[in-house]
Amino acid sequence: MRISVFRKAHFNAAHRLHNPKWSDHKNAEVFGLCNNEYYHGHNYELEVKVSGEVDPETGYLIDLKVLSDLIKKEVEQKFDHKNLNLQVEEFKEINPTAENICWVIWKTLRTHLPEKFDLAVRLYETPRNYVEYEGL
Ligand code: NI
Repeated sequence: MRISVFRKAHFNAAHRLHNPKWSDHKNAEVFGLCNNEYYHGHNYELEVKVSGEVDPETGYLIDLKVLSDLIKKEVEQKFDHKNLNLQVEEFKEINPTAENICWVIWKTLRTHLPEKFDLAVRLYETPRNYVEYEGL
């Protein structure tokens, strides 16, 4: 039986969208309020979807405790209450947009999950704006 399990998580973080190759004027024009040089915060909501075959011996796809511990260690501890631009290595070179944050989370979790599982990550930056990455 092929099935999916989901785990939700959450973190607060600050960011600024800025392209150092552009003028201040162009940055302000493209990124608007998100370019504020003093940063701003979001309450990010994360949904992690793991798909695969149920293990007939346990009846589990994946132990949700294992998944939640993984998200806690690899995502929440790294991102929660952080300034993403200044304190998270991955965003020294790339803009911490919802798209890029989602991709970084997917890549991080992917390296810690067995190959047999498919992984999708959905990240809400606001209740109405969200992105999803499945690694396809
Ligand atoms: Ni923002």
